[in-house]
Formats: sequence, structure tokens, C-alpha cells
Amino acid sequence: MDQHTLSNYADVCTKHLKLRLDINFDSSIITGTATHLIENNSEASEFILDTNGLHITSVWVDDIEQEYTIGQTVKHLGNSLSIPISSKSEQVEIHYQTTGESAGLQWLQTNQTQGKKLPMLFSQSQAILARTWIPCQDTPSIKHTWEASAINNLGLNILMSAKKLETSIDEVASRFEMQHPVPSYLISLCCGNLVHASVSEQCGIYAEPELIEKAKSEFSAIDKMLKSAEALYGDYRWDTFDVLVLPPSFPFGGMENPMVTFLTPTLIAGDQSLTNVVAHELAHSWSGNMVTCATWNDFWLNEGFTVYFERRLIEQLEGKEAAELHSYLAYEELLEELEQLKNKPKDTKLLLDLKDRDPDDGMTLIAYEKGYFMLKTIEEQIGRIALDQFIVEYFRHFAFKSLNTREFVTFIKSKMPKEQLEAITTILDEWIYKPGLPASFPKPISKLNEDVNRKIVAFSKGDLPSHYDVKNWNWLQTILFLNGITEKASIEDMPTLQSIFNLSKTENAEIEFAWLRLVVL
Ligand code: BES
Ligand code: ZN
Repeated sequence: MDQHTLSNYADVCTKHLKLRLDINFDSSIITGTATHLIENNSEASEFILDTNGLHITSVWVDDIEQEYTIGQTVKHLGNSLSIPISSKSEQVEIHYQTTGESAGLQWLQTNQTQGKKLPMLFSQSQAILARTWIPCQDTPSIKHTWEASAINNLGLNILMSAKKLETSIDEVASRFEMQHPVPSYLISLCCGNLVHASVSEQCGIYAEPELIEKAKSEFSAIDKMLKSAEALYGDYRWDTFDVLVLPPSFPFGGMENPMVTFLTPTLIAGDQSLTNVVAHELAHSWSGNMVTCATWNDFWLNEGFTVYFERRLIEQLEGKEAAELHSYLAYEELLEELEQLKNKPKDTKLLLDLKDRDPDDGMTLIAYEKGYFMLKTIEEQIGRIALDQFIVEYFRHFAFKSLNTREFVTFIKSKMPKEQLEAITTILDEWIYKPGLPASFPKPISKLNEDVNRKIVAFSKGDLPSHYDVKNWNWLQTILFLNGITEKASIEDMPTLQSIFNLSKTENAEIEFAWLRLVVL
């Protein structure tokens, strides 16, 4: 069972959700109605939902107003909302308002936007923040279709992670429809001064008008990426694919909201160098959005598969050496993460135990990179062709469903040929249920890193590379070099390094980060 929901989803669950949202920028409040069409599987006498920081105003069951109970605050989880129902109840409607405690909403002042003239609102529901702006069964175990109608008091554009429906000119509300069942953490909203630029028939970019041109040229490869992804692991099932470039306060690199991936503007490097993040979010359209981890303990099922998929895309689009370089840097970062988690060995298992904790605690590089390296190990064991076949089958079998790690283990074992079963069982046991990295883990190698390593060794002997040596380096090589000399570099080296790598002019935020970290350390 999911330890991060207060809902009784095993007994009664939402099959479809209708939202009505009235966004008010004066009060920074959304006044909403959430209508749940429910399925009562076990004659439950209550429908229990998650809320956190919501003000409930009234509750209606099949159009009759009902008393309801709000439970005591549970640390990390919020408050349950219990609504009496009968076995025949079909529809539960909750009228509510968001509050200043609605942590899943960011209300941006005009000066926090690119245009600086209009405010903006965006949501972030993963992991358990959907309940802070929608009363819902906030667990990835439950999936349902949804629709929404949304208005705002400034006449700004509204986007949600669903298909936007055509509306007549005299209709003020924007309407959305998601026909595939999705978990609550994938419901999202953005309201602001946004324009759209098409990249292809299927793909496009949303951004503030001031940023749209730059964003379009940075992310123009999304259509090619989508086609590569389909060639690898089967049809894209979500119709269109757009990316939305948000202001810098967006708290992640990217968030895979269905049909519209949310992105940080710091990915705009001017040379498409950071588009692996887009590849990552696109890959979630299969692993995560279509096939979803049932609980946050199984988070690696979302992220590990997605990183594997992402690197396969990079290999197709940028070549094998670039993909290897990504894996190599990831390996170094994973070792750093393992070092930081050395007093919490349990958190370095793929299958987590996040009971009584905020699920964000478990969202470390373990799920991403240990998950990736396990799949890589399986690839080496059974061969790439066999693994690809397995992944296609896995996506097909669990499409629009949620599964936990145990179900994954049973499924993969059932698909492996007899002669591989023992080896696969050992791999799964070591990676999933044991902390750290298995002793037999083969360290990734990267041809492009060899050159970097030579330069790091030379640096420690007092030999700095020339601008000519590094001018054709991939940005990841620059980062590996800067990370690699941290212990050896002195403050006197900084001006030289700055000019060799043109560091004062870089628009690549990852290089900038590595550079500034080196300066500080
Ligand atoms: N789904 C995650 C972001 C996330 C994880 C939000 C957990 C809330 C809780 C997203 O797909 C992601 O992994 N983003 C990464 C980029 C990626 C290339 C590793 C990020 O933003 O750093
Ligand atoms: Zn991800």
C-alpha cells in the first residue's frame, strides 16, 4: 500500500475527475470545485481524500449536501477529508479554496517573470502536492481520466497537462480533457502571458513572448526526439508534445507533465547542449506517465527507466561517445551521492522505505542512476536486443497502469529465458534490495573522458591545458575537468581557467555551476 496517502483508495476510488478552477491573482487563491466520479468496490461507507492546506467550503454527494470530517494533521501528509457515501453513491463534489499553505502552487509577482508586466501561476504536484490544490486521492496507485474548466481574473492564457479543447469566442473558460487515466501527481496548471510556437505538427513550445524565439531555437529538436523515442520503445500515446519554458523560480530542470513538459529557462544555453533534460522528460511519457510506480518507494521504476531511455535517445541523436560521457559523469555523481548517504545505507537500495517521511527524502540520485546502472547491467547480461524487446513488452503490458517493484520483479523474471533466470535473479536481488553498488559492478568507461583525465593528471603536475586543447570539448568534458581539479586548483589558477574555457561567457548553466563551485571550493 502507498504510505503517503490518507485516502481509502483500496476500497473506493476516483474513476474520473471534473475540475472547475477560478484563478484569482489579486488574492492568490484558486476557488475550485472537484467532482469525483467514484467506484465503490467494497461497499465502503466513506470516501476519504487527501488535502493539505485547503479550505473546504461544502461537500455534495449526488447533488445532496453532506456533512464531512477533516482529520487531524498528519506530518508530511496533511489532512484526510472523509465523506459519507453509500454503495450506490456515484458522484462526490467538493467546493474548496486554496490557501497560502498550498505548497503546490507558485504565484509569481510580475517582476519574477520574463516580461515583468504580468503575474504568473504554475503548479507542481509531484510527489504529494496535488492535494495542496485539489482534494484528491493523492497516490500514484490510482489513475483516472479528468477534465477541467478554468478561468482567471486577468484574461491570461491557461495551460493544463491535458488536451486543450476548442472553445467559441464568447466562452471565457479554457477547457481541458485528459482521456487517458493518469495519477494525481501528473495534473498540472500554468496561467500567465504565454504564447505558442509550433515546431512540427505534433510538437511545440510555450513561453512568454519575450523568450519564445530563443526557446524555439533551443528546443527545435523535440520532434526528432519524439520520432527517435517511438522507434525505440513504441508509439507515443499522448497525441501532442509541447514544452513550457517557465521563469527561473521553476524548481526543477524539468517536470514531465503529460502533453506539456515544464522546463526551467536555464536550459536555454544557446547551443541545444542541455536538451538531454527534454529527452528525459519526453521519455517519461512511457516510463512514469504511461507505466507508473505504484508508490514513492518504487520511484526508481519511474526514474531509472527514464534515465536509461534518455541515454538511449542521446546515443541516437548525439552518438555513442556522448551517451557514454553522460553515463560516466553520472557515475561520478552517483559515487558522490553514495558518499553523502553513507550513514543512511537503507536509502541507497532501489526499493525504498519512506514510511513517516516526506517522499522527497527518497528522491536522490539512487533512483535515477543506480536504477540506470542496474538496467545497464541487465543489458550487458542479456544483450541490448533482448532488453529492448523486454522494455517494449513491459510498456505494453503495464500501459496506463501502476505497478510496484515486486510486480516488476515477477514480470521481468517471467519474461527471461531459462538460461538467464539465475543471473537476472542475482542482479535484481543485489541492486534492488541491497544498499550501495554491487561489488561486481563494471565501472563505465568513456573514450572522451580519457582525454579529460590526461589533462587532469597534467594539471596536477602544473600543466594547464591550452584554449586550443579544449575548444572542441563537449560541455560534459569541461565539467568533468572542472570537477576533477577541485582539490588541486588554487585561487591563482582561476583567471587562467576562466580564459581557457571562456567561462565568463558561458550560457550553459551546468558549466557555470561547476565553475562557480570550483571557485567557491
Ligand atoms: N519527475 C522529475 C522531477 C521530480 C522528481 C519532481 C521528484 C518532484 C519530485 C523529473 O523528471 C526529473 O527527474 N527532472 C530532473 C532532470 C533529469 C534530466 C534528471 C531535474 O529536474 O533535475
Ligand atoms: Zn525524471
